[in-house]
Amino acid sequence: MKEITIQTPITCANVGPGYDIFAVSLAENSDIIKLKLNDSGIISIKVRNNFQNIPTKVSDNTAGLAARELFKSKNIVQGVEIEIIKKVTSGAGLGTTGASASAVVFGLNKLLNLNLSENEIIDFARRGEVASGGSPHADNVAAALLGGFVLVRNYQPIEVMKMKMPEFPIVLAVMTKSQRTTRGFISYDIGVEKLRLQMAHCASVIHAIHLQDEKLFGKAINTDFIAEPVRGAAISEYWEAKKKVLKAGAFGFNVSGGGSSVFAVCSEQNRDEIAELMKEIFKNNPHFVDVIKTTTSNTGVREII
Ligand code: HSE
Repeated sequence: MKEITIQTPITCANVGPGYDIFAVSLAENSDIIKLKLNDSGIISIKVRNNFQNIPTKVSDNTAGLAARELFKSKNIVQGVEIEIIKKVTSGAGLGTTGASASAVVFGLNKLLNLNLSENEIIDFARRGEVASGGSPHADNVAAALLGGFVLVRNYQPIEVMKMKMPEFPIVLAVMTKSQRTTRGFISYDIGVEKLRLQMAHCASVIHAIHLQDEKLFGKAINTDFIAEPVRGAAISEYWEAKKKVLKAGAFGFNVSGGGSSVFAVCSEQNRDEIAELMKEIFKNNPHFVDVIKTTTSNTGVREII
């Protein structure tokens, strides 16, 4: 086999309180990644629908960097053309750069019969993330690879647990970031009171998934003392918006991954209403792209014909 075509889901990382350890795959939308092996010994990248100037230099592209890290570590000399067919907005906290990295390592594992374990694929893919946010976090790449809800249980070595995810209704307001990453502004000194609550909310997220209780899930994702204060502050009207969306009946509201997209957990009955409201609230934000009505999903990267 010389080539493979892969579909990659968008993912919502952190899922409220689970900074760098939680992420969940979403049903809409996805990008397509095509890999073609060749004899050049060179990794090359093409991006179709490249309206956002996604870099095609290997070291600046998450997919290219992940492939390079994999080849370096396994002493592989191999030419490969990576074609990224963009359908989803990048740089908006929807995990698309991580998903591209996961797809490339998943595809190369298959094409070159490398027999990598899921944790090894995640480990190489996360090294690609450095090209995007400067940090090798594993949450997005793991959810993209495995689908469902993931818990990064350990970073050294990488150990990821996957949970089957009930299909909870989600509304996303897609907004791009005004700066490359806000990670550098996050403070980890949250104090013992907030630390207790943060841990309790993380536990509640897992419990809500096991109970398949979207209301409890929404309540649990609503609180985060680590990333939300910084990312929320970078989104105009964020706290007002959160208040309005919860008042309209959503169960929870938070920032998706590194932002600036935000997501609401709601019931199927009020998903349309919440979507309209979020559009109304954010439509004048200069970084606003669209509102997407979707659900949490159990589908990860997969080969398509
Ligand atoms: N956990 C990462 C962060 C996800 O919060 O920076 C980035 O999408």
